[in-house]
Amino acid sequence: MSLNIVILAAGSGNRMQSNLPKVLHRLAGVSMLERVVNVAKEFEPKNIYVVYGNGGKQVTECMQHLPVKWVEQKHMLGTGHALQQVLPHLKDRDQVLVLYADVPLISKKTLAALLKSTPKNALGLIVAEFDDPTGFGRIVRSEGGNIVSIVEHKDATKQQLKIKEINTGILTTTVQHLKEWLPRLKNKNAQKEYYLTDIFAMAVEAGFYVGGVLAHCQQEVRGVNNLHELSQLERYYQQQKAIELMRRGVTIMDPSRFDLRGDLQIGKDVIIDINTVIEGDVSIGANTVIGPNVILRNAKIGKNVTIKSNCVLENCTVHAESIIGPFARIRPGSIIKQNAHVGNFVEIKNATLGEGSKANHLSYLGDAIIGKNVNIGAGTITCNYDGANKHRTTIKDGAFIGSNTELVAPITIGEKATIGAGSTITADAPADQLTISRSKQTSITDWQRPTKNKSV
Ligand code: UD1
Ligand code: CA
Repeated sequence: MSLNIVILAAGSGNRMQSNLPKVLHRLAGVSMLERVVNVAKEFEPKNIYVVYGNGGKQVTECMQHLPVKWVEQKHMLGTGHALQQVLPHLKDRDQVLVLYADVPLISKKTLAALLKSTPKNALGLIVAEFDDPTGFGRIVRSEGGNIVSIVEHKDATKQQLKIKEINTGILTTTVQHLKEWLPRLKNKNAQKEYYLTDIFAMAVEAGFYVGGVLAHCQQEVRGVNNLHELSQLERYYQQQKAIELMRRGVTIMDPSRFDLRGDLQIGKDVIIDINTVIEGDVSIGANTVIGPNVILRNAKIGKNVTIKSNCVLENCTVHAESIIGPFARIRPGSIIKQNAHVGNFVEIKNATLGEGSKANHLSYLGDAIIGKNVNIGAGTITCNYDGANKHRTTIKDGAFIGSNTELVAPITIGEKATIGAGSTITADAPADQLTISRSKQTSITDWQRPTKNKSV
C-alpha cells in the first residue's frame, strides 16, 4: 500500500486582494505551496499531486521545479470535488494524505502522528482546539466521544457553533474509500459546494472508525486567507527560529526584529543585532558580530568577523577576523580574506581582497584580485568596464594605492608599488616604485577670481 499526497491549491484566494495567486505568496522567503510540498517530500510518497485552478497557469509556471504532478480543477465546486479530480490517477489499494496549500506550517511531526495512528482501511484527520473557531468546520462527537460527522460553520446549528474542536482539513484514508464516497457527495448546503468533510458521516454510517489526531500546535494548522493572517504566521515562524538559535548559543538582540528566509548554519556566541535579514544559504562562524540593519544573502561568514551596521552582503565569502562596514556593499563573487577591512561606502564586486588588506573608505573594487596587505586609499576606483566588456585589475601584495586613484583595467599593479594620490593609471605599474600620473602642481601669481556681473 503506497502513499500518495494530494495538495489542494485551487481556491480563489479573493481575500488576499492580490494579483498573485494565494499559494505563491511567500512565508519566510518560500511560497506557501513550496513549503507544503517540502513537508510532503519528507514522507517519500509515490506521488505528490497538486490540484490547481485559480491563477493556474501562473502557479504551474512559477512552480515547475517542484517534483509534483499537476491536476487541474476546472470549476471550483468545493474541496470534495477538488479531491475527486485526482482519483482517476490513483490505484485502489493506495493510501491518500490530503494537505492544503494555504496551511503552510504543517509539521512533519503532526503528519507522521496522523499516518501512524490511522489504522489501515480507516479514515483519520487532524483536529485542533481553537478559542475562536469561527469559520472552521466543527467536529461533532457522539456521547461516547467518537467522531460522527463534521459540520461547516455556515451550516452549523447554534449549539454546534459552540464546539471548539475544529477540522483542520488534513485527512488520510484509502483510494478505495474515496472512490466509494466522493461520487456520493451532494452540494445541498449553505455554500452549494461538494464538501470533502461530508465523507466523515459516510464513513461512520458504513461502520468505520474515524480517528482524530490533535495537532502539536495551533499555528501549524492555521490557514492563510488574507495578508494579515500570512504576516501572523510569518512572525510566529520567525519567533520559533529565533528561539531555536538562542537555545543554541546565539544572542539575538530582539527576536521580534530578526528575519531568517533560508537556511542558517551558525557557530556559538554569535551576536545578531536588530533588523538583520538572512536569506538563502548563509553560514556564520563563532564569535561573529552582525548588525544592526544588515542583509546577508547566500553569504559565508567566518569566525570572529565584525559586520557593522547597514551592510549588504550577497553571494560572497568573508574570512575570519575581517571587519566590514558600516555601510559596505559586497556583491556576488567577492572573497574577503582573513583580517581584511572593508569600510564605509565601499562596493566590492567579483573581487578578492587579500589577507590583511584594507579598503576603508569610498571605493569601487570590481573584477579585481587584490593581494595581501594592500592599502586601497579613499576614493579608489577600478575602472573595469569599457562600455562593452569587463576587464580585470590585479594588485599585488603590499601595494599602496593613493587616494582618489582610477585604475583603468586591464591593469596590474606590482608588488609593493605605490600609486600617487589623484592618479589615473592606464598602464601597468612596476613593483617597488612610485607611479604617479597627475600633472605637476603650479601656482599662477597674477590670476584673479572672477567677480559677479553687476549689470544683470
Ligand atoms: C475547509 C473545510 C473545513 C476546515 C477548513 C480548515 C471543507 C468543506 N471545509 O473549509 O471543515 O475547518 O478547511 O481550514 O472542506 N480548494 C480547492 N478547490 C475547491 C475549493 C477549495 O482546491 O473547489 C482548496 C483551497 O485552495 C484550499 C482548501 O481547498 O487550499 C480549503 O478550501 P477553503 O474554501 O478555504 O475551505 P474552508 O471553507 O476554509
Ligand atoms: Ca480556508
